[in-house]
Amino acid sequence: MTKHLLLGQTLGFSGNPLLGDLADSVDFDSAGGVLVEDDRIIATGNGAILRADHPDADITDYGDALISAGFVDAHMHYPQTGIIASWGKQLIDWLNTYTFPEEARFSDRAYADEVAGRTLDLALAHGTTTLTSFCTIHPQSVDAFFEAAAARNMAVIAGKTCMDRNAPDNLRDTAQTAYDDSKALLEKWHGVGRANYAITPRFSPTSTPDQLAALGALWAEYPDCLMQTHLSEQLPEIAWVKELFPQARDYLDTYEMFGLLGKRGLYGHAVHLQDREVARLAEVGAAVVHCPTSNTFIGSGLFDLMGLAKASLTVGLATDTGGGSSFSMLRTMAAAYEIGQLRGQALHPAQLMWLATEGSAAALKMSGQIGHLGKGAVADMTVIDLQSTPAIEQRSAHTHDIWDAVFPTIMMGDDRAIKDVWIAGKPQRV
Ligand code: GUN
Ligand code: ZN
Repeated sequence: MTKHLLLGQTLGFSGNPLLGDLADSVDFDSAGGVLVEDDRIIATGNGAILRADHPDADITDYGDALISAGFVDAHMHYPQTGIIASWGKQLIDWLNTYTFPEEARFSDRAYADEVAGRTLDLALAHGTTTLTSFCTIHPQSVDAFFEAAAARNMAVIAGKTCMDRNAPDNLRDTAQTAYDDSKALLEKWHGVGRANYAITPRFSPTSTPDQLAALGALWAEYPDCLMQTHLSEQLPEIAWVKELFPQARDYLDTYEMFGLLGKRGLYGHAVHLQDREVARLAEVGAAVVHCPTSNTFIGSGLFDLMGLAKASLTVGLATDTGGGSSFSMLRTMAAAYEIGQLRGQALHPAQLMWLATEGSAAALKMSGQIGHLGKGAVADMTVIDLQSTPAIEQRSAHTHDIWDAVFPTIMMGDDRAIKDVWIAGKPQRV
């Protein structure tokens, strides 16, 4: 079997820099190497030593570019690719004005195929190797996404978005059809190749208690699936949830009451959590997903990253396109930094890179498999040019260490910074 050796500056993690000491959690080598065999990373270390030990390996020398695990987007909506950056609305109006009319178009399988392929190609161009996506109410929108991902050998997580109220007629299913369709799709796709199915109630305002209960029952039948939804994103939404579920203790309880709170739960946004919600999420080991460009773009609020991380919550990072305003996880890290600053928390570049790789993988319960630059992980990698534009290049003349070299690319970089992407041991762009 041919071995490949990638040479460059390598950045991986052996611990969580949000919680522990930077020196104990970061594996950085300014002259590093990543040895790949088949679809896996079999070693990382000093480039010259790996080269001497494996003279048979094919070599790709990326010079002083940074080799990282591929970015893992833990929450997005591929059907909203076409309406990204739509002006002037907050959450509920934004859904009704832009999102629902666009999602209705996914009854057309050919349109779903086209947008699924376009979204995955945009993700790759931005260095993202795994997407976790909501689809639409239409089962064929799920097939379209999983098929497009399989054609690219990308690890993806997705599910049919279920809604049986407070949505247009053509975007509503029922409790029973949500259960039946989700179950059929789950059986068809979960664990097939690099696909994983996530049971996907959109959010509690668009599901009746019956539908939430049906999906809770389905999750109990397939507990190794993820369950993804939205939680406490915007204040008017939270007030609406209170009206719709007067008996619930809080927003999280609208899921908990129906069997939709668990370790493999992924709760997008989680901007305005109550103490009980934080404690319960931590207790069950569920994950919340930080969607910073969306939270500013839709006007939702300032996610408390450090507070939640210190409360032992698993936190992933996500674009939330098309509510999020960028396909780039670099731009997403920049927005997380900016929100941190507004909360008096200056996130370190290592913490941002960890969130975009290891943090999201942990949220997806895929630690060590993806988002990891280390032995045994699938060789999904992103190679980052740290001088990709004139503005970044002139700034790099003033850098004094690797973090100072990486940070301008986090703040100002985009798809031009992505020099190469590897999917399961195969380079995509060289
Ligand atoms: N809450 C329910 N649906 C959505 C969605 O599509 N995007 C965002 N940002 N929030 C939601
Ligand atoms: Zn979302």
